[in-house]
Amino acid sequence: MPRTVIVSNRLPIKVQRTEDNLTFQSSEGGLATGLGSIYRADGNVWVGWPGLYVQDESEEEYVRAQLAEDSMAPVFLTESEIRDYYEGFSNGTLWPTFHYFAQLAVYDDALWQAYVAVNEKFCKAVLAQTGPEDTIWVHDYQLLLLPEMLRKARPNATIGFFLHIPFPSYELIRVLPWRDELLRGMLGADLIGFHTFGYMRHFLSAVSQLLGLANHNGQIETPTRTVLVDAFPMGIDHARYAEVAASAAAQAHVSEYREALREVRVILSIDRLDYTKGIAQRLRAFELLLQRYPEWRSQVSLLMVVVPSRDQVAQYASLKEEIDELVGRINAQYRTISWNPVHYFYRSFPLDELAALYSMAEVAMVTPMRDGMNLVAKEFVASKADQRGVLILSERAGAARELSDALIVNPTDTGQLAEALHEALVMPEEEQITRMANMQALVRQYDIFAWTKLFMDRLAYAKTQQLSLATSMLSPTVVQKLEQAYQQSQRRLLLFDYDGTLAPFHSNPQRAQPDQELRLLLRALSDNPQNRVVIISGRDRETLEKWLGHLPIDFIAEHGVWLRSAGDEWSLFQELRADWKRDIRPVLDLYVSRTAGSFIEEKDYSLVWHYRRADAELAAGRARELTSHLTFMASNTDLQVLEGNKVVEIKNAGINKGTAAARWVSTHHPDFILALGDDRTDEDTFRALPADAYTVKVGSAPRSLARFHVAGTTEVRNLLRKLL
Ligand code: UDP
Ligand code: G6P
Repeated sequence: MPRTVIVSNRLPIKVQRTEDNLTFQSSEGGLATGLGSIYRADGNVWVGWPGLYVQDESEEEYVRAQLAEDSMAPVFLTESEIRDYYEGFSNGTLWPTFHYFAQLAVYDDALWQAYVAVNEKFCKAVLAQTGPEDTIWVHDYQLLLLPEMLRKARPNATIGFFLHIPFPSYELIRVLPWRDELLRGMLGADLIGFHTFGYMRHFLSAVSQLLGLANHNGQIETPTRTVLVDAFPMGIDHARYAEVAASAAAQAHVSEYREALREVRVILSIDRLDYTKGIAQRLRAFELLLQRYPEWRSQVSLLMVVVPSRDQVAQYASLKEEIDELVGRINAQYRTISWNPVHYFYRSFPLDELAALYSMAEVAMVTPMRDGMNLVAKEFVASKADQRGVLILSERAGAARELSDALIVNPTDTGQLAEALHEALVMPEEEQITRMANMQALVRQYDIFAWTKLFMDRLAYAKTQQLSLATSMLSPTVVQKLEQAYQQSQRRLLLFDYDGTLAPFHSNPQRAQPDQELRLLLRALSDNPQNRVVIISGRDRETLEKWLGHLPIDFIAEHGVWLRSAGDEWSLFQELRADWKRDIRPVLDLYVSRTAGSFIEEKDYSLVWHYRRADAELAAGRARELTSHLTFMASNTDLQVLEGNKVVEIKNAGINKGTAAARWVSTHHPDFILALGDDRTDEDTFRALPADAYTVKVGSAPRSLARFHVAGTTEVRNLLRKLL
């Protein structure tokens, strides 16, 4: 039975060496705790690093066997791999960049090389663990290259990718020297998931601006596949947290803590040691609370759990010193014999003790500078059986997009944090319950099981869509049939669009003239008296004539306005007006003046605004604006507005490539038709042709009327060569 193989840098269990043996403990961090509940189902496997350097083969075998019992397959990393790939590139380059701490990022090619090599090591391990039917689900920033590596090895595999940290603005991504490789690595997946719509938007923008790949409702068309991008805010195992918090073990801890703290009210803070978490700012805010509101002294304590993390990375070590110092200062200044302002723990807690802390605290302060999601916020909510308690949540945690009933704060605004603390401490119980009940309903509904199901369902959907496209890909069998039909026919009609079909796009359209190979191909095809070759293009007639007029081929220019049979004069499809250009031209001029790099092409009966060379995102917005502007002007006229590949065109309605193609069919009665086109305007041709015509869309796009697809101009030329 096909399984799901989860791949992440860190396994949910970490193996540690003590003096006389190895211990196996749960890992911290949202990825491991979040997915820990679900991965074991249906014979699934989790591939990742066990957090230990093994000493010899027998130890390696021992760890492998132990972990296998719990459905885990370890990838062992050496000390230098951990230094360069994990501490180096993953946590010294990507982590700060993706969390908007670009000033901390290092750019070192040796670290990059290690990152590539370890991703390859993971790739080998995953291939060894999986069969072609299995679904592979890759997680997080340490393995951004893995989806593409897996795709190369298994072109048809089902691969999902989820990023657990923010995806930052294009402005940060573009700074990375390896940005294109990283994006391409991710695009190896069939489905790419982020916690929030904002992260997804940043990713789509980076892909568009750096790789030139546009998207339609989150679907990116790569030349060979469609990749789906979507937002999936990760949830927690709500039932489990609710249950553990209410358990006898946790409640026993609550009584024990209560006894020690007596009446003192508790503000809770729980994070891994990380500069993204805003721990120092939080301490300063607590200090400010004690200054501004002396009445809280002796009444309230901050209970702060900091879980050791990545302590070999320099910034983490210095943050630890800063926190130690701040805690020392606050406690020294305010403590009394019977009251301790900050209870600070630098270690991790087992689940029942954590649950006791969640259950006991009146206020949770979750105020990261940046956080992909933050599961601590959701765990606090889930643990509140009596619905009393207040969550203070940073606007820059992914969780803030969902938990709008928290007190939402800007974590750099110490004054606001102190006021939020005060507000939380005096909040009436009724209000606490209303807010908490709303948040609980959300955390319960969108729990980790719903999250996994949603992701898997979307992945299956992405795959089905790709398969329907793949079945229409011009396979060798179809090509064979096409060749046969071609050979057996005598009156063939070959309708070829030009740009994007016979020749690749050029940033300056006038430079896309046919190369020698194309001229020879067209010459050979059109010299055969059984063939009628027609170039059916949106281009003006002068250009077509200049480029290809010496060949015995027919032309349909300006999307069907001008027609010319080989050797004849040009004629109009029908009489048309062009006086409307006088009113429309100034509008296009305005868009040129507002959009650097765009320009106007004027044809006899149409006007085109080109924006291929303009800033991609600005121009895409302007194109939408111009389209609606022109559509408004064209209402109640016989004009038509078309959005094409980086162009907006306005022309006479009623005439298009389809009407012209139909005329060729009715005049020449072909017994074989091949039509090739890449653009929306070619859909008119496809629509107008009989059902048995070989209609071929160039460039993958699921929404086409054509019967078949090919990837690009190279494939088109291969096909034409076959016909010869
Ligand atoms: N956690 C833990 N032991 C501790 C403190 C925290 O296992 O002593 C867990 C916590 O329950 C949460 C995770 O660590 O599930 C932290 O995840 P979060 O998304 O908040 O932040 P991340 O560490 O992933 O940046
Ligand atoms: C975050 C990351 C995870 C990582 C975790 C703990 O949650 O998104 O990928 O596993 O922190 O960090 P560590 O470096 O100890 O694995």
